[in-house]
Parts: sequence; structure tokens; C-alpha cells
Amino acid sequence: MNDAFSLADRVAVVIGATGGIGAAVCRALAGAGCRVAVVFRRNPAAADALADTLPGSGHSTMQADVTDSASLDRLAERLGARVGSVDILVNSAGMTRFVPHADLQALDDALIDEIFRTNWRGPFAAIRALQGLLERSGRGVAINISSIAATSGVGSNVAYCASKAALNTMTVSLARALAPAIRVVSIAPGLVDTDFIKGLDPAWRQEQARRTPLGRLVVADEVGQAVVAAATLTAATGCTFVVDGGRLLA
Ligand SMILES: NC(=O)c1ccc[n+]([C@@H]2O[C@H](COP(=O)([O-])OP(=O)(O)OC[C@H]3O[C@@H](n4cnc5c(N)ncnc54)[C@H](OP(=O)(O)O)[C@@H]3O)[C@@H](O)[C@H]2O)c1
Repeated sequence: MNDAFSLADRVAVVIGATGGIGAAVCRALAGAGCRVAVVFRRNPAAADALADTLPGSGHSTMQADVTDSASLDRLAERLGARVGSVDILVNSAGMTRFVPHADLQALDDALIDEIFRTNWRGPFAAIRALQGLLERSGRGVAINISSIAATSGVGSNVAYCASKAALNTMTVSLARALAPAIRVVSIAPGLVDTDFIKGLDPAWRQEQARRTPLGRLVVADEVGQAVVAAATLTAATGCTFVVDGGRLLA
């Protein structure tokens, strides 16, 4: 592989690694040569199984809950002791629930707070906790998995869309604040075929695929590809890479 596209021996930390997108991101980064820390919240067995099947060597599993900042500090301590610095941090942890946008009563305060605590405060707290390790890399990059819901305003509920818009704004603010030591970018997938959307009516999903210019939903491996691209595009910071099959154009 051309050196410019190689991530050989880089240390990557993927939070939300047991999710459909997170697992694909781990596979893509390991395939590009990274040693991957597979970070899980509730399912150590799934994390172990994933780490065991990743290409390459030097992978590990670690626990953290992004809504518990102390657990992120413990993660940073373990990473510091084990690998000393972090080249790539991927924030893929996220949550949502389907609430029709017009049903304001169903989008209660508890759900709004849970969405923002996980989808905005979580990535911020993870970057905050790993800032020193990313700086020590000398080429650190934080990659936030956002969504095209951030710009379309179409998504599982109104708060989810807003949380991803706020995440993209955080990417811009932190890219400016942390440069030149750390790059910060967002990746905005369209509808990706994972457990995240398993509650959706199959007929609706088919209709969405039909309406997408490329005629299909995005697959998780393509988000992995985008993460590798963002990690290797060394001039990119503060931007959002859209990976949606052209969905925003429809
Ligand atoms: N799938 C899509 O269509 C789509 C489209 C655009 C953007 N996205 C975004 O892509 C990201 C990943 O989505 P996905 O499809 O992979 O979802 P998923 O399969 O539901 O996985 C979500 C992951 O996030 C983890 N997680 C949730 N809350 C957490 C917390 N408080 N602390 C640590 N980890 C936590 C989950 O761990 P546990 O299982 O242990 O809870 C799980 O590993 C999300 O940010 C989502 O918003 C998804």
C-alpha cells in the first residue's frame, strides 16, 4: 500500500465498537494496519469476539460508558499505561428512539436528556479525556460519527437530529481550538443497515433505498472506509464527510 494511505502501527480507539458501524470501523482500521482498542459498554463477550477476528495484531478490549466521565478517565489511564499515545479516536457510541416529529408529548425530557448526554456530551467527554494521549501522538485525529440528520432535520426524532447538528458544531469548534495538534472531523452517514434501524418497517426501508440516488442504503463497511479516509486525509479538519449514497440530494 502507498505509505500515504497506510495506518500501519497507529493506535486507534473505537468507542461504541460493538455496534454495527463501530464493528465495521474496527475492521477497516485494523485492515489498514492499526492496533485497535475495541471499547464496549455492556457486552465484553461481543468485544472479545470482535477483537479476536480483527486482522493484524496488538488489539485489545476496554470498557467505558460515555455518559460516565470517570469511566472515560479510567479508559485514558489504561490506554496511557498500555500504549502511551492515541493516533485515532472514533466516537461511534450513540443512541436514539423513534418518535414521530409531530408528537411533541412523546419526546419527553428524559429522552431528550439521554440523547444529548450520549450523542453530544459523550463524544465531547471522550475527546476531553483522551486529549493528552491524542496530543502525544503528534498526528492525532478525533472522528465523530454524526448523521445526515444533522443537516436534513429528518431522522428518528427531533432531538436526535439536533444532537447530531450540535456534534458537527462541536467538530468545528474543537478543530479550531485543538489545531494544529489534533484534527477533528465528523462523518455523516445516511441510513445504514445496522441494528440502529432494525425497528423500521421493511417496506419503508425499501422505499428509502429506492429514493436514494445510488438506489440502496449505505453499508457499515462504507462508514469504515470513510473513517480510514478521514484518518489518512492529513489536511482535513473541522469538516464533515457525507457518506449517504446521495440521500441528501433526494
Ligand atoms: N445506523 C444508522 O443508520 C446510522 C446513520 C447515521 C448515523 N449513525 C450513527 O452511527 C453511530 C453508531 O451507530 P450504529 O448503527 O453502530 O448503532 P448500534 O448498532 O445501535 O450501536 C451503538 C453502539 O453505541 C454504544 N453505546 C450506546 N450508548 C453508549 C454509552 N453511553 N457509552 C458507550 N457506548 C454506548 C452501544 O453499546 P451497548 O450495546 O453496550 O449499549 C453500541 O455499541 C451512532 O452514533 C449513530 O447515531 C447511525
